[in-house]
Amino acid sequence: MSGHRICLLPGDGIGPEVIGQAQRVLRALDPGLTFETAEIGYGAYQKLGSPLPQATLDCIQSAEATLFGAVTTPPDIPGYFSPIIRLRQSVDLYANIRPCRSLPHPGSRPGINLVVVRENTEDLYSGVERVEDDGNRAVSEMIITRKASERIIRRAFELAKSSGFNKVTVVHKANVLRQTCGLFRRVALEVAPQYPDIKMEEMLVDTCAMELVRDPAQFQVIVTTNLFGDILSDEASMLVGGLGVAYSGNIGAKTAVFEPVHGSAPKLAGTHKANPAATILSACLMLEYLGEPEAAERLRAAVIESIRLGKVTEDLGGSLTTEEATDSIIELIGN
Ligand code: NAI
Ligand code: MG
Repeated sequence: MSGHRICLLPGDGIGPEVIGQAQRVLRALDPGLTFETAEIGYGAYQKLGSPLPQATLDCIQSAEATLFGAVTTPPDIPGYFSPIIRLRQSVDLYANIRPCRSLPHPGSRPGINLVVVRENTEDLYSGVERVEDDGNRAVSEMIITRKASERIIRRAFELAKSSGFNKVTVVHKANVLRQTCGLFRRVALEVAPQYPDIKMEEMLVDTCAMELVRDPAQFQVIVTTNLFGDILSDEASMLVGGLGVAYSGNIGAKTAVFEPVHGSAPKLAGTHKANPAATILSACLMLEYLGEPEAAERLRAAVIESIRLGKVTEDLGGSLTTEEATDSIIELIGN
């Protein structure tokens, strides 16, 4: 591996603990990686007056990729904003990628190897909201554009192609949301023929939620709009072991931010019980993005083997601390 430049965003709660462990693992894998750490979240707000200081944005934009821990959402503070949502928008991280693969653990169902590709910038999360009728009627606009739909659908087909999948499931609710989901669906029908080796299948979102529980092995790549993707990706992650192992990437045209799905778990902070696996698996996805598939695979294999051996934290039924679970992964990398 060549010396990639990585920005680390520890954040709040268990964020610094899991990012610290991921950094240890990455160092063991490749001493040539360079790291720069920046502040994000409630701690950053208390210290510097902003949950996403400009210096942090600069760090993210000048690095090849970023590994992010988690942040705490404080009680209602006027002027406080979600640094993650702001980050996704300001760096235009338009694709949220969540792979879910079976793990050798009783909490995981077998035979699952799927990726949820979620549009990350628009839909009901566009932030266009208002109250009317003296607060008795609330409106959130669902915005879908051809441009954002096309790039996320293309991204899903490209991912299918590069990962050896042969099916993309386009999830929508175009039978009811005729305009918004209708546009998303039409764009999918236009893009799909450009990938003749990959089969496109359509599924209504409620059916997809049900099918994920009934027969998750049928899915390969699922592509969908922001809100549906938020919900379906959480559902899918529970099929393979839940928050301790759920990981994700937010990909843009220029850079990408990788993060565990879990939050800052304030009650776990300082107890040495946080599972570092979700962040370490996020680092695997980051290595793939950096064009280091062999290093990614070595690391993933070590994480999977440590889970198979039961060398894990309490949430996965083990008795190791955060640091010991990481030691086991580092040993299994076996330089
Ligand atoms: P959470 O994900 O922090 O915790 C949910 C449950 O999972 C808790 O029981 C926690 O102990 C457990 N858990 C989480 N990560 C774990 C790990 N690595 N190892 C073992 N157990 C783990 O979600 P919660 O409690 O709803 O939120 C806590 C704070 O995190 C809130 O302020 C919330 O706003 C924030 N949050 C931040 C996110 C982010 O930074 N991306 C995402 C979700 C929540
Ligand atoms: Mg979510």
